[in-house]
Amino acid sequence: MTEFADRWSRWLLHDRCGGNAAALQRTLEFLEPIRDRVLAAADIVPGATVLDVGCGDGLLGFAALPLVGDTGRVVFADVSDELLDRCRQIAQELGVSDRCRFVHSTAERLDGIDDASVDVVMTRSVLIYVEDKAGAFAEFHRVMRPGGRISLFEPINRRSTELNRDTLFGYDAAPVSELAAKVWAVFEAAAPADGPMMGFDETDLLRQAEEAGLSKVVVTLELSSVDRPPFAGVQWPQLLAISPNPHAPTFGEALDQALTPEESTRVETHLRPLVEQGRGGRFRAADAYVTAVKSADQPNRV
Ligand SMILES: C[S@@+](CC[C@H](N)C(=O)[O-])C[C@H]1O[C@@H](n2cnc3c(N)ncnc32)[C@H](O)[C@@H]1O
Repeated sequence: MTEFADRWSRWLLHDRCGGNAAALQRTLEFLEPIRDRVLAAADIVPGATVLDVGCGDGLLGFAALPLVGDTGRVVFADVSDELLDRCRQIAQELGVSDRCRFVHSTAERLDGIDDASVDVVMTRSVLIYVEDKAGAFAEFHRVMRPGGRISLFEPINRRSTELNRDTLFGYDAAPVSELAAKVWAVFEAAAPADGPMMGFDETDLLRQAEEAGLSKVVVTLELSSVDRPPFAGVQWPQLLAISPNPHAPTFGEALDQALTPEESTRVETHLRPLVEQGRGGRFRAADAYVTAVKSADQPNRV
């Protein structure tokens, strides 16, 4: 298997789809409307400087480039050098490097990004991994120009976990519910209730944005249900190689940790036909979209 330099690149470039190219393609199609909604809410104008915090492999940042035009800039920031390198390489291939900057920094300390230097801060699925979310909002405020805007998307896993507990890996688990509960416990141990992934909801995002000094804060919580699991269209062995987030084991590892071989076989006997025939899938999402502005007459907080 390919070696990756850190957990973030390993997950984004491999584990989120088990290294399966078709599954990755479907994931990117699933993310397109989310990306477009974050960008639309960001109100990006030609000439703007846009900061993509936790840019990953550039889902938001590269889509922002046509919006900022020839005179604008996109700053790609991430904690993963490998993902920044990936973005550099994509920018080179697209011939847009002159309009891109790549910065190694955390959301909580946007080192290398000057005060009041960007028009738009955007993120997707980054704050969920950040312990000090209030610190990240304070940094967003610091680097924004007066009149600047944030547009964020974060999954609210505390809610979606509860909404999906009757499923396993996105499929109806009623006939094996007691075994499914043991597997869920493995994922919960990897994401404790008071940790960064589970210990917040949309109201925390609202308060943290306010407390950072942002105004006109709008948080939209969207609950949705689709009769298709998040990892549709894969065969059972491929599904077992998928991990739902960078801190979690793969589905196969979770089965091994939670169940005896006999119990694992019972789960496979029930789930495998559903997975491979595309039946019995359902996923309920709980997502928050956040926008806010930095008032034009507002100084930076110290
Ligand atoms: C789920 S990925 C999302 C990537 C990208 N925003 C997208 O929409 O595809 C999370 C990203 O956050 C980055 N990340 C994790 N912790 C971070 C932190 N404390 N500060 C900034 N970025 C972080 C990871 O390296 C990874 O690129």
